[in-house]
Amino acid sequence: MLLPATAGAASDPAAGDPMANARYVGEKRCGECHDTERELFGHTQHAKAFRSNPRDDVERTVCEACHGPGSLHVANSNDKSRIIGFSKDWGTPVSVQNAKCLGCHSGEQRIHWPGSVHATNRLACSDCHNPMARFTASGLLKKASITETCQTCHQQQRAEFRKRSHMPVPEGKMSCEDCHNPHGSSAKRLLKAESVNELCYTCHAEKRGPFLWEHAPVRENCANCHLPHGSNQDKLLAQARPVLCQNCHSGQGGMGHQLFAANTLPTNLIGLAVPATNATAGSRRTISRSCQNCHTQVHGSNHPSGARLQR
Ligand code: HEC
Ligand code: HEC
Ligand code: HEC
Ligand code: HEC
Ligand code: HEC
Ligand code: HEC
Ligand code: HEC
Ligand code: HEC
Ligand code: HEC
Ligand code: HEC
Repeated sequence: MLLPATAGAASDPAAGDPMANARYVGEKRCGECHDTERELFGHTQHAKAFRSNPRDDVERTVCEACHGPGSLHVANSNDKSRIIGFSKDWGTPVSVQNAKCLGCHSGEQRIHWPGSVHATNRLACSDCHNPMARFTASGLLKKASITETCQTCHQQQRAEFRKRSHMPVPEGKMSCEDCHNPHGSSAKRLLKAESVNELCYTCHAEKRGPFLWEHAPVRENCANCHLPHGSNQDKLLAQARPVLCQNCHSGQGGMGHQLFAANTLPTNLIGLAVPATNATAGSRRTISRSCQNCHTQVHGSNHPSGARLQR
């Protein structure tokens, strides 16, 4: 039965489901008008699964397992409410699109999809996936790699990874997905671990310790000193040294104050005085790795007398 031309779009729930009376017609029928799509689709994991190993009659129809039953669309392909389209200008609501995919792919990695930042920002599965062609070895992504897929929207992170010091993401040895689960996470920022530190330990296990002498800010959060996406300082550091250390170690009587005040310079001792008021001027001890010339074990020490992180 064909719906009247006035039937509402799928976006209008009051009008009911415009595809309610549609029947399945099968892949061959679709291919009569969408030969190119059918051809490209043939290389994908879905084509293999649905054609040679269908779990039910719907999967056996192949195309309609995702696009919905197509008889009404075949009869009138101008009415966009008669087939579930996943491209932006087709107009099928994102909720309808995602419900189709989640019908077979809920749970597991997508257990936190509902309520995740990507879901609440109304991303469609097809913002990252294109199941109509095989551009990637796995994941049926829209772009040639995971990172490129993410960077279509996340330009800022793309720029950060171009900085002088960065983990090998632009080089293709790592991807955004090594640290983030784009489908949602129980941690903040879609992280794949419960905290920033737990995430870093998965690859930098030696930093987990335990250490005899801990350095408090390391245990608290690696991001106290490192920028995960990249930095123009060495080793992803958030600031140049010694300023990085002096942010926290600058109190009166503290190391950063005493040893590095200009009036403790050796030159002072032989009378070539630097004005005493110029207390913050750098000592020559602060050059290069500065504090780490002595405090080498910034991440923690296991030496019995390494309390000052110097061995
Ligand atoms: C009689 C020809 C014909 C048949 C058969 C046909 N279609 Fe279409 N289809 C069209 C036309 C024409 C359009 C509109 C293209 C446009 O406006 O860009 C269309 C559009 C679509 C779209 C929306 C494309 C977009 O831009 O997102 C999808 C999805 C689709 N068809 C799937 C199917 C499926 C699945 C079948 C089989 C059940 C099928 N079609 C059978 C002619 C047909
Ligand atoms: C696993 C789900 C799935 C299956 C199965 C599937 N499609 Fe699609 N189809 C999609 C998605 C998602 C898009 C949107 C892709 C994009 O963003 O460009 C799409 C897009 C389309 C389009 C719009 C043009 C294009 O290529 O973007 C047509 C036409 C279409 N599909 C027809 C078919 C036909 C014919 C079949 C069977 C041979 C089929 N689809 C099987 C999910 C599917
Ligand atoms: C009718 C069930 C069904 C629907 C609907 C469906 N899929 Fe799938 N999907 C499968 C099956 C079956 C596989 C193959 C699983 C395997 O090989 O382990 C698969 C595989 C995948 C893969 C993994 C490919 C790989 O092996 O790397 C992705 C990504 C995917 N689907 C995304 C989607 C998206 C996006 C949609 C909605 C546009 C969708 N699927 C709709 C059943 C479905
Ligand atoms: C923000 C981008 C993004 C969105 C949105 C997204 N995915 Fe993914 N998806 C990915 C990436 C990246 C991978 C990993 C690909 C790889 O490992 O090669 C992936 C992998 C998958 C896989 C294969 C691995 C697995 O988990 O079994 C499936 C299935 C899948 N996604 C389904 C979906 C479905 C369904 C939706 C919508 C509810 C969705 N995705 C939304 C980026 C996304
Ligand atoms: C279609 C656009 C789009 C794509 C593609 C995309 N994202 Fe997003 N992402 C967003 C939007 C929108 C937000 C929420 C607003 C914001 O924070 O910028 C977001 C937020 C995030 C956040 C921050 C989460 C938070 O709690 O603040 C992370 C992390 C993220 N995305 C990772 C990824 C990764 C990894 C990929 C690739 C697998 C990806 N995104 C692909 C649009 C996208
Ligand atoms: C080495 C792990 C790692 C990699 C790789 C990584 N991120 Fe992140 N990302 C993080 C951490 C850690 C945070 C900060 C979490 C926090 O603020 O607590 C973060 C935060 C974000 C945010 C939130 C806004 C911000 O910048 O703080 C977005 C968006 C994001 N990442 C996207 C991406 C994208 C896109 C890629 C790939 C180009 C990527 N990330 C690669 C670890 C990583
Ligand atoms: C998925 C694995 C992985 C995760 C997770 C990870 N890293 Fe890395 N990291 C690497 C790799 C690979 C390198 C490059 C090592 C090399 O070149 O020898 C690297 C290098 C570094 C470097 C040295 C950079 C330089 O310029 O030499 C720092 C600092 C670093 N990571 C900090 C972190 C922090 C902080 C986190 C947590 C937010 C983190 N990493 C999470 C894999 C990872
Ligand atoms: C108090 C600041 C600080 C904190 C917090 C910190 N780091 Fe570092 N990290 C440094 C400094 C400084 C360097 C440079 C060391 C050098 O040049 O010898 C460095 C270097 C590194 C390197 C590269 C050289 C190496 O030692 O392997 C990695 C990897 C690294 N840090 C990982 C981490 C991880 C993981 C965490 C969290 C557990 C963390 N850092 C927390 C200051 C810090
Ligand atoms: C985010 C703040 C912060 C940063 C940045 C920081 N530290 Fe610390 N540091 C601390 C805290 C807190 C302690 C523990 C103080 C205590 O136990 O009394 C500490 C302890 C130390 C100690 C041992 C002192 C003692 O009394 O046991 C040394 C040495 C030290 N830091 C050196 C450094 C160096 C070198 C850097 C730069 C690479 C640095 N710190 C960066 C916060 C910081
Ligand atoms: C020339 C070697 C040397 C350099 C360079 C150096 N320190 Fe120290 N630092 C020491 C020694 C030795 C001690 C132990 C003093 C003690 O046990 O009484 C110490 C102690 C400390 C302590 C423990 C608290 C205190 O005042 O005794 C902190 C914190 C500290 N240094 C931070 C720093 C920071 C930050 C820098 C860089 C701005 C720095 N140090 C540079 C040798 C150095």
